[in-house]
Amino acid sequence: MKRRDFIKNASLTGMGLAVGNALTNCEENTSDQNKELTNTPKNNSKRASPIVVATWHVISATAKAMEVLNQDGNALDAVEQGCRIEEANEKGQTVGKGGLPDRDGNVTLDACVMDKHGNCGAVVYLQNIKHAVSVARKVMEDTPHVMLAGEGAKQFALSKGFTTENLLTEASKEAWEKWKIEAQYKPIINIENHDTIGMLAMDKNGDISGACTTSGLAYKLGGRVGDSPIIGSGLFIDNEIGGCVATGLGEEVVKTVGSFLVVELMRQGKSPQEACEEAIKRIVNKPNSNYKNFQVGYIAINKQGETGSYAIHQWFSMTKFQNGVNEQIQSGYFNKT
Ligand code: GLY
Repeated sequence: MKRRDFIKNASLTGMGLAVGNALTNCEENTSDQNKELTNTPKNNSKRASPIVVATWHVISATAKAMEVLNQDGNALDAVEQGCRIEEANEKGQTVGKGGLPDRDGNVTLDACVMDKHGNCGAVVYLQNIKHAVSVARKVMEDTPHVMLAGEGAKQFALSKGFTTENLLTEASKEAWEKWKIEAQYKPIINIENHDTIGMLAMDKNGDISGACTTSGLAYKLGGRVGDSPIIGSGLFIDNEIGGCVATGLGEEVVKTVGSFLVVELMRQGKSPQEACEEAIKRIVNKPNSNYKNFQVGYIAINKQGETGSYAIHQWFSMTKFQNGVNEQIQSGYFNKT
């Protein structure tokens, strides 16, 4: 059967029209100003100071994203290019090539992007294609859909010129073979300084976009999908308010629609830091929460260029690039015991 290229029609893309020219002023950074956030587009003409934030210690990725912004690239280009750095980094065992496989030895990738108009695209259970984030962007831009899964996502990627490769590196194969000896299904609290890579950027126009990419939970059941490709859970952007991305045990993020929650809390007047803290509390304060056994972390940015990050456990960090400084910032955390 002949493959059809989808061309998005105007009615499917019209959802972004309400945003308008929401230029912002990042020079003032007070919490009072934050409390005045409303659902009304800002209309001042000041240029924003570009900012990139990402989950974990990913200095090269944020550097790439800032390079794109400094060359007048937009926030969506920046987060895509930044995430691609980690997808290509074979040493990182949680994203793209080199990601740890599921319990059957298959590396399966989840990713999504969301832009300033509220447009979004995602791929789930994608195999043998390294740059899941770029396939997600193609889904957003070249189809009338939001999400493609499995073989369909792969065939779509091939039709767009992506090429296949074996994503299971020797190191990850070795780790999987070791795991198979006991084959215990135990989510590991991530203290290894790496997990899902989520990135948020604000460009010179003050517009915000985000992206998220992961190989998911190591040794998961075949077919398992986490939070990372689920818009509202792993990532959410509202260009009038801000954006949020999540990392950690996806099941717990999905149950609280975490990233959407953080953005909605910012809409109600909370700072990014306060919103991330509240969203973590929603998880740990659930009756019978077994939060001591898993990690979740959020990072967020608002229209004023304020940022925040918070996690359940210690050792989560955010990489932030602003005003020429590209640094890892240790995140606050809930569990002090
Ligand atoms: N946060 C990534 C996952 O749970 O798959």
